[in-house]
Amino acid sequence: MKLVIVKDYNDMSKQAAKLIAEEVTRNPKTVLGLATGGTPVGMYRELVSLHQQDGVDFSQAQSFNLDEYVGLPSLHPQSYRTYMNENLFAHINLPEEKTHVPQGDAEDLEAECKRYEQAIAQAGGIDIQVLGIGNNGHIGFNEPGSTKDTTTRVVALTQSTMEANARYFDSIQEVPTQAVSMGIQTILGAKKIILLASGEAKAQAVSQMLEGELTADVPASLLQLHPDVTVIVDEEAASALSAKLRS
Ligand code: PGA
Repeated sequence: MKLVIVKDYNDMSKQAAKLIAEEVTRNPKTVLGLATGGTPVGMYRELVSLHQQDGVDFSQAQSFNLDEYVGLPSLHPQSYRTYMNENLFAHINLPEEKTHVPQGDAEDLEAECKRYEQAIAQAGGIDIQVLGIGNNGHIGFNEPGSTKDTTTRVVALTQSTMEANARYFDSIQEVPTQAVSMGIQTILGAKKIILLASGEAKAQAVSQMLEGELTADVPASLLQLHPDVTVIVDEEAASALSAKLRS
């Protein structure tokens, strides 16, 4: 995996946005794999500015988000569809019908998971997938124990993930307990992957991902199986890495 250590959150966001913009410029029909959470907010801000100031064109691109909470209607304020609309989709020229987020309130969730996998395949697969990393090493909502053969499915959130995400809800009781998430196999199917991490709380997970053994206990470590991963971390998130990797 290629490791890029930058000074801070701002630099991480800029570097990541630059990689995405380059990809979309080189291949206007890029299929983007997108993530939510606190980490990519700055990257989306940069992408909006690259579109509005520099004319980066998303009109022929498509996007697939990693995950969505089970039970939240698309327009719920805390749904990942709403997050994407607010942080990115409302500000760039990616046509709405080309944006895909799993439907967390589908009546038949199993059928929804199948449909989502098929839609990704029909689009020709994901060209560039953006990932964050959970404090517990999860990617998407693939919690510890997720194996490399998992595809889009309904998953149960761990207590630590619900606690981490409670900041967006009025109380932890309101955090959904399940999500629809792309699986590890879905993620590994992307042609390129960019993983972002910022802040000391991520340092341990980043070190286990890059220097630990390959294990479903740390789902991000399974990215070692992929030939084209760029990990962009700030100094704090890099702070638990060995001197060898940091130099
Ligand atoms: P965060 O979440 O960006 O809000 O830290 C990352 C993740 O859980 O994957």
